[in-house]
Amino acid sequence: MSFTAPDSDQLPRTLNDYYSRARAGMSPRNRAYFLAGAGDGQTASANETAFQQAEVTPRMLRDLRGGSTEVSLLGQKLVAPFLIAPFAYHRLLHDAGESATARAAEAQSIKMVLSAQSSEPLDRVRSSGPGSDWFQLHWLGSREATQALAQMALDAGFTRLILTIDAPVQGVRDREIEAQFQLPPDVSAVNLARFTPPAFTSREDAQSIIFDHIAETLPTWADIAWLIETLEAPLLLKGVLHPEDAAQAQRIGAAGVIVSNHGGRVLDRAPSTLSALPAIVAKVGPDYPVLMDGGIRRGVDILIALALGAKAVLIGRPIACGLAVAGDLGVSHVLRLLRDELEIAMLLSGCATVQDIERDMVHLKL
Ligand code: FNR
Repeated sequence: MSFTAPDSDQLPRTLNDYYSRARAGMSPRNRAYFLAGAGDGQTASANETAFQQAEVTPRMLRDLRGGSTEVSLLGQKLVAPFLIAPFAYHRLLHDAGESATARAAEAQSIKMVLSAQSSEPLDRVRSSGPGSDWFQLHWLGSREATQALAQMALDAGFTRLILTIDAPVQGVRDREIEAQFQLPPDVSAVNLARFTPPAFTSREDAQSIIFDHIAETLPTWADIAWLIETLEAPLLLKGVLHPEDAAQAQRIGAAGVIVSNHGGRVLDRAPSTLSALPAIVAKVGPDYPVLMDGGIRRGVDILIALALGAKAVLIGRPIACGLAVAGDLGVSHVLRLLRDELEIAMLLSGCATVQDIERDMVHLKL
């Protein structure tokens, strides 16, 4: 299951080299799980294409002394405006799983968001990377169960919470079905073991196969408003694509939204996140924390997302590739390459600080 970490002189040298080596080295099942999108993969590839089609018009001869990539977000200082996105089951890629990823994040002073579907116990991950204090929740079928999961995270020292709202059911995962993906017996969502899955009542008058079984266990805005009121920590909503949903999140007191389509793993045909971002920022205003993820593969992509109004971004598959190729060393290297590329993009486009990255520098050809 795991790869042996190569000597550092055998490590890939570029981000694209990580992605191609990871793709080539993964088992077909892992490739289907980690790299494919739902359905035809249209949304997953639209995320990447949107960045590739964006144009950055650089500014020249500005004063670049004292530059930095630092930002403030929800009362925390980040050395660079990106975090590791929450993704499930790191142990499929490396024996040390999320602990290896957290160690790498710590080494680079970048924060990792731990998924509720972590394959390592959350205490162990926290102690491997104490600087990573963000945790991602799923709705667990009821207010009480979801609140208990949030409390478990807060008790373990997490201080920033994200609730993922875009995956009430799994997307149509053709690639996983074709590859017969299933979890091996030694990999599971260990932190959810103590929560009993919601009981589905099958009713005589059921009109549909899937709807009638799960709809009762799904949250609505009233449930989220309740959760936000009961929690003593900021909660962001992840998986927002419509400006009205962003405005609703703002109204009920969410600490921010993450413009995301789950890396194209849920509703195939959903818009790319980069194309959805500007209207959302316009709706909630420039001061509300809007983050985004999906399709970011290079440092310059981070600059593009920031120009369009994101306060920070999350990075998923590039991190999975680093972990697959070389464990914590690989993740650490991918983080470093992303940050170096961002700095180079800022210098080349005349931006000493993140505040200097302006909307009119980026043109979207969508
Ligand atoms: C995810 N994502 C995800 N999101 C979440 O909130 N909880 C989770 O457990 C997971 N699990 C997961 C597994 C895998 C294999 C992937 C690829 C993604 C979505 C993730 O947080 C993020 O939205 C996307 O990965 C961002 O897109 P990129 O950077 O992978 O293009």
